[in-house]
Amino acid sequence: MNEITLRHNAALEIALIASNFITESISAPEFKLAVTTKSSRTDMVTQIDGGVESLIQKEIITRFPDDSILGEEHGSITGTSDYEWVVDPIDGTTNFVYGFPAYAISIAIRDRNTKKAVAGVVRDIPRRRVFEAIAGEGAMLDGIKIRVTDLSEISGALIGTGFSYSDTIRIRQGEVISRIITKIRDIRRMGAASLDLCMVACGELDGYYEIGLQPWDYMAGALIVTEAGGQISGGDLDEPSYEMMVASNSLIHKELRALIKK
Ligand code: IPD
Ligand code: CA
Ligand code: CA
Ligand code: CA
Repeated sequence: MNEITLRHNAALEIALIASNFITESISAPEFKLAVTTKSSRTDMVTQIDGGVESLIQKEIITRFPDDSILGEEHGSITGTSDYEWVVDPIDGTTNFVYGFPAYAISIAIRDRNTKKAVAGVVRDIPRRRVFEAIAGEGAMLDGIKIRVTDLSEISGALIGTGFSYSDTIRIRQGEVISRIITKIRDIRRMGAASLDLCMVACGELDGYYEIGLQPWDYMAGALIVTEAGGQISGGDLDEPSYEMMVASNSLIHKELRALIKK
């Protein structure tokens, strides 16, 4: 088994361990969720976010002690190998806090030299499904190959979006919605960027856009989209994307980008 497949399989295993940890923790009779905020009133974090990231770090280090890790809650660990794991322990913390069933564990593995994702796993916790991709090998949902939609008319497109935690960006986002809402079929705001991307990959959405995403939000999902035949543009795919990131089935890409950017 090659180095990438080894890590990909480990990511699938670790995402399952982390998912079980979350569901068991919240179903314990004495469990109480501790919620605090970070950058703004909308930017919540719980003791489970940090706990899951520690668990994932431990599982990675045990298996691949020389790899690097970048995570949302605990920052980065620098190793000596060519691989870096990019981890969002809970993507969709707001949903997790409210019990809205759309949150996930997102784990990408990227090449430290090229900065490109080589493998990605997104585990949808409430729906118990797993999206995965290895670069060049296609994308799968629960072990079955997936593909983006073949819609070519933007007027029939169901488009996902998300809002950053900054109110300045939220206002801009509102303006974009008012501009595109009359040109597409409808909008969805699910609350977990990794899942939004996976929904484009498996054809539950025709496209998705958001600004201000961090690598742990999109690194795994973006690979899953492109491996499912979709297209991603905007933002810097290696760093926080302060530009609008647009993902689509590729057929509506140009038009969707133009609408959003107007
Ligand atoms: C957030 C979610 C949300 C998106 C935000 C992200 P978090 O991640 O993916 O859908 O709109 O931009 O920060 O904080 O729940 O991991
Ligand atoms: Ca967060
Ligand atoms: Ca996230
Ligand atoms: Ca998170």
